[in-house]
Amino acid sequence: MAATPSARARSGESFACRDCGTTSLRWAGRCPACGAWNTLASVPAQARPSRAPGPDVTAARSVPLAEVSATAALPLATGVGELDRVMGGGVVGGSVTLVFGPPGIGKSTLLFQVLSSLAGRGVDVMLASAEESLAQVSGRASRLGPVPDRLLALEGPEVDAIEVAVERVRPALVVVDSLQSISDPELTQAAGSLAQVRACVERLTRLAKSSGVPFFLVGHVTKDGDLAGPRAVEHLVDTVVSFDGDRHHALRVLNAVKHRFGPTGEVGIFEMRDDGLRGVPDPGPLMLGDRMPDVPGSVVFPSLQGRRPLLVEVQALLGPGTAPGAAASGPRPRALGIDAARADLLLAVLACRTRVALPSGAPVFVAAVGGISVTEPAADLAVALALASVAAERPLPPEVVVFGELGLAGEVRLVPGADRRLTEALRAGFTRAVVPASCAVAAPAGMLVEGVRTLDEAVARVLGPGGFDRAPGTMRGWPTEPAPASR
Ligand code: TYD
Ligand code: MG
Repeated sequence: MAATPSARARSGESFACRDCGTTSLRWAGRCPACGAWNTLASVPAQARPSRAPGPDVTAARSVPLAEVSATAALPLATGVGELDRVMGGGVVGGSVTLVFGPPGIGKSTLLFQVLSSLAGRGVDVMLASAEESLAQVSGRASRLGPVPDRLLALEGPEVDAIEVAVERVRPALVVVDSLQSISDPELTQAAGSLAQVRACVERLTRLAKSSGVPFFLVGHVTKDGDLAGPRAVEHLVDTVVSFDGDRHHALRVLNAVKHRFGPTGEVGIFEMRDDGLRGVPDPGPLMLGDRMPDVPGSVVFPSLQGRRPLLVEVQALLGPGTAPGAAASGPRPRALGIDAARADLLLAVLACRTRVALPSGAPVFVAAVGGISVTEPAADLAVALALASVAAERPLPPEVVVFGELGLAGEVRLVPGADRRLTEALRAGFTRAVVPASCAVAAPAGMLVEGVRTLDEAVARVLGPGGFDRAPGTMRGWPTEPAPASR
């Protein structure tokens, strides 16, 4: 019979998870770290390695911090501008950066371009390729232009080999591609297991600190953001950068989610082309180039990606439905790049708090166009107005952008970054903005900024009589009664 946990603890025994390697003093049916069942196995006290003799600490001395030079932390620009922007100027010596994203998004391509750029400027850099053979790497490289001589490559999964090669060459930058494919031969777990990933990151981090060589580590995450993978080692590294986008679109967004050497929230935007990734300092034309402003259901939303404004077109469509009614009682909206539950809520707010009548039973579709996911509540007003516009069969005025969060009472709520959103919209040629009335923001010269307190007021401004006097379409769903919220 199994001994009680306290008896086991008294006997000096500990338990290690066969999957992730986490040790604990108590036995449990499920690993507290990785959640795997029946993986904790006893480790006898004598089997645990005794603490390795540490460095001589008798000479340890604290120093006045003011006298410590910070120049070691000055970043080295890689020459890939959008990446340097995200990294606060470049890579810092001895730092470790985790770049994670879904498979196929372009992580290997991006980091190859970084290596290539640095090598082209005359410094040695190294690619440790554990996932692809050097022939495969070379195949990709041929799409990206000539390969500089100083770009060295190492094939194979052993972390020991990476350590030896880095010590020998001391390159200016090392890229390890990918974390899931390298392994520490001393561990019995398979490459990609949490124990392996953690052990390898620990070893590489030690190497980075001792050698002063900066590392980029590539990690794949699955579509549902698998946390057991590379994100489980976020605390071990200095900087964590996500690389994301829709594989079927060209746009890619690089975003620092943790940064020990600079601000987070900086975003880099790239376009995936046939000859590699190209930085997009001005994504406006790429995002809105194909927009048809005269079609009902299209609204331009100045989003914030980190601190960077990006204009995103939000679209809505109502499928053929039954007669117009007081509310859409069909299935939940189908959403692309917008949270479906949020869209459902906005549909209810639109139906209950405004004068817009939605055809009941009609299927509802909403989408953020261009491969960008819009997760900010600031998009609420844009999504609701896209739905209102399609229900009323009226396009918004072409010069308008909108942003604001919506509450269930139909109130339009304050959102951050109003000035940055307005400046970007004006730069792209939009001259009118409908924003939360509580946003105390000075209108940039050349732009009309209209504060609204309720969704119904916003609907009236951009679609209703007095707010918009284009040739009226069929004003289905436009009763003359005032909205419930304004009664
Ligand atoms: P890759 O960098 O291998 O992705 P990851 O390392 O994140 O898995 O890039 C994968 C995709 O990018 C692949 O489907 C092909 C495409 N691609 C281009 O469109 N243009 C290019 O120049 C390159 C190199 C790749
Ligand atoms: Mg790859």
